[in-house]
Amino acid sequence: SWTTGNVIEEQVAAIRAQVGGKRAICGLSGGVDSAVAAALVQKAIGSQLTCVYVDHGLMRKGETEQVEKDFVAATGANLKVVDAQERFLDALAGVSDPETKRKIIGREFIRVFEQAQLEILQEEGPEVAFLVQGTLYPDIVESGGGTGTANIKSHHNVGGLPDDIEFELVEPLRQLFKDEVRMVGQELGLPEEIVQRQPFPGPGLGIRIVGEVTKDRLDLLREADAIAREELTAAGLDREIWQCPVVLLADVRSVGVQGDGRTYGHPIVLRPVSSEDAMTADWSRLPYEVLAKISTRITNEVADVNRVVLDVTSKPPGTIEWE
Ligand code: XMP
Repeated sequence: SWTTGNVIEEQVAAIRAQVGGKRAICGLSGGVDSAVAAALVQKAIGSQLTCVYVDHGLMRKGETEQVEKDFVAATGANLKVVDAQERFLDALAGVSDPETKRKIIGREFIRVFEQAQLEILQEEGPEVAFLVQGTLYPDIVESGGGTGTANIKSHHNVGGLPDDIEFELVEPLRQLFKDEVRMVGQELGLPEEIVQRQPFPGPGLGIRIVGEVTKDRLDLLREADAIAREELTAAGLDREIWQCPVVLLADVRSVGVQGDGRTYGHPIVLRPVSSEDAMTADWSRLPYEVLAKISTRITNEVADVNRVVLDVTSKPPGTIEWE
């Protein structure tokens, strides 16, 4: 019968059989899937695993620390953190178009990750033969039934290496659904904040700033987002809403008043949605008191924000994210 204990036991045995005495690399995104996949592999092969986290500077408040401190404390994994914040900011400078931003972020991510893989290979030698991926069962079904090397989200060929060096994939979550992955993660002792994390896009806050992405704008949005998340959690609404993007309209300004002065600041958009699978969504009917608290706090605590607006559009026609 299906128990998380059985799943863990089976997968640990399978990973040991597959990897043997060799070494593996796992990219962490801050999300549930990669964290649980890494924790399983860590349990199976311990220090033969090296995890890599690319800090692109587009994460929300506290998320990088969750990986660097809490994930490592829970699993004991070797973690290589690559601070690529400057590089991503440079690459995104002057860019406002959503698709261009996505392409740049994706491209830079692969480059930085491949560079990290190369360094690990150089340090640890040719025994590094495996790449861990947090592929879930629905990912495989959606892509038409992958074979273990076909269905991957990032490249498994490492740039700058001889052609004959290719990683074999380890995909310990291939048979699991999302809720099962969360249960396995919990059983493995991963922090609640990681295991219960709501969906968050790979390009991160980069696609929640409508306009050019800059350090100041990211810092501002991080503060506003942290307040919204804090209040939604305090109100016990985390399970009720699917996710709540917080968006900065960086190119829009409106007039406001504070004390005896006129302000001319940016609006923040709250986009709370309910959904089953993100394909369609409805806007969440959040209690007015919660919205009021979030609005008051954001306008009081975040400099340059003088208005909070609520997105009341379903999907379709609106998407969940603004970009
Ligand atoms: P949209 O905006 O298309 O989003 O309604 C649907 C779901 O997908 C998430 N999302 C992404 N996730 N990489 C991701 O990993 C992305 O580029 C990306 N774009 C959107 C979004 O947060 C929502 O849950």
